[in-house]
Parts: sequence; structure tokens; C-alpha cells
Amino acid sequence: MSTHINILILFLGMTLFFSEPSDHKKQDPVINTNKDAIDKKVDSLLALMTIDEKVGQMNMYNGFWDATGPVPKEGGAKTKYDHLRKGWVGGMLNVRGVDDVRAVQKIAVEETRLGIPLIIGYDVIHGYKTMSPIPLAEAASWDLEAIEKSARNAAIEASAAGINWTFAPMVDISRDPRWGRVMEGAGEDPYLGSQIARARVQGFQGDDLTKNNTIAACAKHFASYGFAEAGREYNTVDIGPSTLYNIILPPFEAAANAGVRTFMNSFNDLNGVPVSGSSFLQRDILKTKWNFDGFVVSDWASIWEMISWGIAKDKKDAARIAATAGSDMDMEGYVYIEQLANLVKDGIVDEAIISEAAGRILRVKYELGLFDDPFKYCDEDREKALIGSKAHTDDALDMAKKSMVLLKNETNLLPLQKKGQRIALIGALASEKNSPLGSWRLASDDDSAISVLEGMQAYSENTLQYEKGVELVIGKTSFIKEVEINTTNKDGMTEAILAAKNADVVVMVMGEHGFQSGEARSRTQLDLPGLQQELLEAVFKVNKNIVLVLQTGRPLTIEWAAEHIPSILVGWQLGSQSGHAIAQVLYGDYNPSGKLPMTFPRQVGQVPIYYSHKTTGRPSNSEDNVFWSHYIDQENSPLYPFGYGLSYTEFEYSNLKVLGSNFSVNDTINMTVDLTNVGNYDGKEVVQLYIRDLVGSVVRPVRELKGFELVELKKGASMTIAFSLTKDELGFYNNNGDYVIEAGDFEVFVGGNSDAALTAQFRLK
Ligand code: NOJ
Repeated sequence: MSTHINILILFLGMTLFFSEPSDHKKQDPVINTNKDAIDKKVDSLLALMTIDEKVGQMNMYNGFWDATGPVPKEGGAKTKYDHLRKGWVGGMLNVRGVDDVRAVQKIAVEETRLGIPLIIGYDVIHGYKTMSPIPLAEAASWDLEAIEKSARNAAIEASAAGINWTFAPMVDISRDPRWGRVMEGAGEDPYLGSQIARARVQGFQGDDLTKNNTIAACAKHFASYGFAEAGREYNTVDIGPSTLYNIILPPFEAAANAGVRTFMNSFNDLNGVPVSGSSFLQRDILKTKWNFDGFVVSDWASIWEMISWGIAKDKKDAARIAATAGSDMDMEGYVYIEQLANLVKDGIVDEAIISEAAGRILRVKYELGLFDDPFKYCDEDREKALIGSKAHTDDALDMAKKSMVLLKNETNLLPLQKKGQRIALIGALASEKNSPLGSWRLASDDDSAISVLEGMQAYSENTLQYEKGVELVIGKTSFIKEVEINTTNKDGMTEAILAAKNADVVVMVMGEHGFQSGEARSRTQLDLPGLQQELLEAVFKVNKNIVLVLQTGRPLTIEWAAEHIPSILVGWQLGSQSGHAIAQVLYGDYNPSGKLPMTFPRQVGQVPIYYSHKTTGRPSNSEDNVFWSHYIDQENSPLYPFGYGLSYTEFEYSNLKVLGSNFSVNDTINMTVDLTNVGNYDGKEVVQLYIRDLVGSVVRPVRELKGFELVELKKGASMTIAFSLTKDELGFYNNNGDYVIEAGDFEVFVGGNSDAALTAQFRLK
């Protein structure tokens, strides 16, 4: 643990304690056990390399099959193969499967002068072939062990397909559900986001990177991509230090502390500097303050895009700016490979910069054990045995059940009775076998998810009638094309209404198609796309016993449904086992315990909306006049707050106690709270602890999550849960980026969501 130097100063009548910022929360990285030996090997190899070969390590090409970005005019297979043979390629992405990986690796190892192996990257975001729920859904489980396991399984499958590097986890905090990529992260909160970042890094990388079933992870997108203005993809980011240091950076720092081996920068600019060219982020924060010794890969052509941003006048300029700023590898951008060697020869870029970047990349290759055996991930037997294995399928089902969030169950329609019921299942998404795989599922087979219809059919002692009602999507959907939504064709509406009329219970599966969220899928509306709302209201007119299963990659505005529909279950995009998981929850074989990792707004005009907002100078209307911080046409409060989620049972919180008093800023504050399962089912609950720092040198949020515990409790049983707060939770970053813990009064709140009412106080002297 770090030593903290505390300097007592007096400021505005408050006592401030400054702790040394740079080593705050440092932990020993788990990976670099033989760092010195590897450093020596890197240096010896660098000494043998020409400038072109060093620059070659900094060059990454997309493979010859899939594409996950716009394909540039340069390159083409011939150029790529030529460069591979010259040793001018350090890594490749989107090459997968033992045969294809072996083919490119063989060229690198056997045909180049120095035989340096390639690092093989892929977007293993929520599974390789066996798809787990989308990351936002997994975050809703608040189950760190299960999340780690999911990443572990993904690494096992990917490594069996020749891959040794994933472009995950995405740790971008976002508070704007208009941004399609919220599906890929852990939601709006930096504390939860940091815990999940750590779990995912550990899952991918395991405890020994040299094993053939662990892969290097990549914390992305560094940094601030989740704050793209107006939620529009690839847009500008203009934010202040408070948000940067307290909200955006902590999950990245947590990933670095967990030993993540790579970072990816992002497409956005931050306050006028495209981040591929940001020395402040890449050198000052990441490589200096956090001491990160892995490497930074650019995002797809993001170095080249600095020309579009108007920061670089040409590729030469872009190469100089990005390399100097600490972008070590150029992904499918053709900028470094075309420009950097000449820039060094012309004395414009210092060779030391190139050696440093190449050295970082080589270090990770040594850590992976690629120099000892470049083909260690190329084993057909592993590929056959592990990809799509029964164990991974079972775990994906388990994760899917844990990820669901019950928003409403007013008349206890859920769980459904297993016998003697006439169930009408309605909605185009109910029979979807592609959409539940979600975005970023490139290696999974199309239409390979279990649909809700298939899942429900397993419960055969009820009668089940399925009607689509209205089609959601027109034509085939794909990762690289816009999804075309049906807004006109209402054929099928009548049958759906008839089925609903004759049913005891109607299960309606609605929401977004899996390809409506993800990269480049920003939306200005967050309602049910197409004709779904109309269908929902039409069915409600004939049968009010509706369970709405919401399949989505982001929070949606479902104000009407929240008011009228008695039961609502968020079923996200839950991956390969989606339908089985949903049916098991609907029928009560699994009691839901998920909690929202992102606020659900009432209307899109409230966005960005998040629980941990700052108070204002005019937070309430105590004077009964118009001059306070509010909307004249909508409430300030969300539809469902962060941390919210019900169970089939009920939990009661009581007896919140702060143990002790007279605390100083270095003390640990211990607390206990009692939890009782007062309902009729055994169940799980995520007990959440929030704090409010009542007076600070800069404005503090109204609440901040600082602890949580996932517990299981039999019906009728009680337990006491202990929490402790240390200086890691009690401080914050000031506007200079220094971590400070300030004396003063704090309030704590404990409960089942961010609106928790049970409260206690303590004071730090
Ligand atoms: C662009 C995306 O922003 C990034 O997250 C991804 O890893 C790369 N493309 C590679 O597919």
C-alpha cells in the first residue's frame, strides 16, 4: 500500500488534507513478475532492429476477411502481405480461427528477417462464439465473480481460435443513452465501473499471461469517449477537470492497477485535442502518473483522422503528433508505416520515441510468451473442444439470468403459473434469434441465440400462442449497415390483438434490435422503435395482464408502459442463451436480482440524467416560485433510478449504524445494516452504500456509490451486512487532479437503489 503524505492547510475556513496524488490506490500489477528479464530481452532485440522494423511493430493491419471500421483506400491484401514479409507489421486484427492465424503468424515468424511474432487482436467484447449478455447487461448483475468468469470464458474461447489480445474491456462511463455504445460499458457510475473494469481485466488476463488460455486485455477508449456531445457518435468532447478526474479516469486507473497490458485511445477530441494526439492523457496521466508500461493502440484509423479534425495538415503531421503524444500502435491507419521512418531520418521525430513505442509492444509480446512459442494459440484440438463448449453455454445462461432487472410487478403477475394458463406471446423480438446476440458478436453464428419463443415452449403445460404483431425490422440486419425499422406495415396487428383477447396473460417482447445499439448507433429518440408502442397500447385495450419484456442495449423511455403495464422485466440483449434465461425468470425458476447500472429517463430531454449529479444553487422550490432548477414540462426525477431493481421477494433495511466516532481522515469508518427478506421467496439483493460529502472545496455530488454487497437470503431470514469506508472512498480529485480527503460532515445512505432512504452521519476531523 502507498504512503500518503498529508499536508494540513487552512482554506476558506475548512481543513483540507491533501494526500500525494500519484500513488493513490496503487496496487501491484499482477502480470509483470519477471519484468527485469523481459526488459533486457526487449533492449537486446531493439538493438538489432532497423528503424523500419521498429516502425513495423507500431503498425497494425486489419485482416483480409471481417472489417470493423470503414475500409481505407490504401493497402489491400497485396500491400499487407508485402509488409508482413518485410517485418513491417506488428499486429493484426480480425484474423481469427487457428488456420488463418497460423497462416499470418507463419509469415511473420518464418519469412521476416528477425522473426518477430504478431500480436493478434479481436473485439472479444462479451464472448467469442458463445455470447454472454452485452456488457451493460452483465453490469446489471453487480456480480463481480460472474462478470470475471464471463471474461475468462471469452478468453478461453478466443485463445482457442488463435487470438491473444482482446479490445476489451470498454470502461467508458457514459450518462447519455443516446450514445449507442453504452451497451458496451458498465453504465454511468465510476465506482461500479472501476470494480467491473478490474473483474474483466482479471478475467481476460487470468493470473498468468503466458498460459495459452489467457489473453492481453485493452482498456478503452482512453479517454472521455462516453461524453461525446449530444450522444452523437465520434463527436467532440468538452468537459472540465472535475468530470475527467472523478468520473472518466477512475475505471481506467482501476484497469491499469489490475495490470491491463494495453490501452486503446478514442475517436473524440478532448477539449480541442484529438486524443490520439494527446500527450496529456497518454504521456502525463497514463505513462507517467500511472506508470503504465504496456502499450497504447490507436482506434481504427484515429491517427489519420486527426487530419479531418484539422489538427494535422497531412499524414506526416499526424504521425509526428501521435507518436510524440504516446500513441504506440497505429490501427489500420497507414500513417506510421508510411511516415514515421522518414520523420526519424529527417530528424523531425526522435528515434527514442520509436524505440520506446516498439519496446512497449515487444514487452507485451514477451509477456504473452509469443517469442517462446508463436503458435501456442494455434491448436486445432483446443479450438474444437473449447469453442461453444457446454460449460461456457451453461455459464452464459447463468450470467443471462443474473443480468435481468425487474422494474415493476405491481399485481404479481410474475412469476407466471406453470400450468393451465393461456399465454399469448407477442412481438417480433420474441422469435428473434439474432438480435439477442447483441452488437459485437462477430464470431458467433447468425441466428444462434435461443429466442424467447423457444425458451417459453419448454414450459409446455400452458398453452402458448405466438404472434409477431408487427415486424420490427425490414430486411436483413448486419453489423456494418443501418437497421431499417418498419414504421408502416401493420399486417399482423389484428392477429396479435385476437391472441391477447383469448389469453390469461400476455407476454410482450419489445425494444431495440441488437444492431440498434453499439458503435455508430446513436439515437435522438429513446422510445420503442417502429410500431411497437402502438401495438402495446392496442393490446392493452383488450387485456391488461401484460408482462413487458424489454430487450434493449440502452435505457429506453418507457413512461407510458411504466404507468400502465403491470409487470416489466429488462431482458437486454442476453446472448446465446437469452430465451432460456428469460423464460426461467418469467416462470420463477430464477428470482431476478439485477439492478440498473444506468438511469432510465422519463423523456429524452432529461438526458444526460444520472443519480450522482451535483446539487445546484437552487435545488428545490421551497419558495413556491418558478426560479429553481427544473423543467416546466417534466419532473427532474428519472423514471427508474440507478441501482434500481426488484425481486419476487421483498427486502427490508433497518438499523444502519456507524460504529465509533471521532474519526480522522485516515481512519476506516465501519458501518453495519440489517437486511430482512420479508417476502415469499428466497432471493438475492444488491445492498448499496452511498455517501454525500456535505461541504467540499469543490461542489460534491448529491450521492456517490462507495460500496455494495450482493447477498442471498432465504425468505424470512435476516442478516447484518458490514461496510467500511477508507480514504480510497472518502476523497475526490480536485480540479488540479490531486486526490484530496477533506474533513467535515458526511451522510451515508444504504438501501436497494440510489434513492435509498435509510441514512446515518459521521464527521471526519
Ligand atoms: C473501432 C472501435 O471503436 C473499437 O472499439 C474497436 O476495438 C475497433 N474499431 C476494432 O474493431
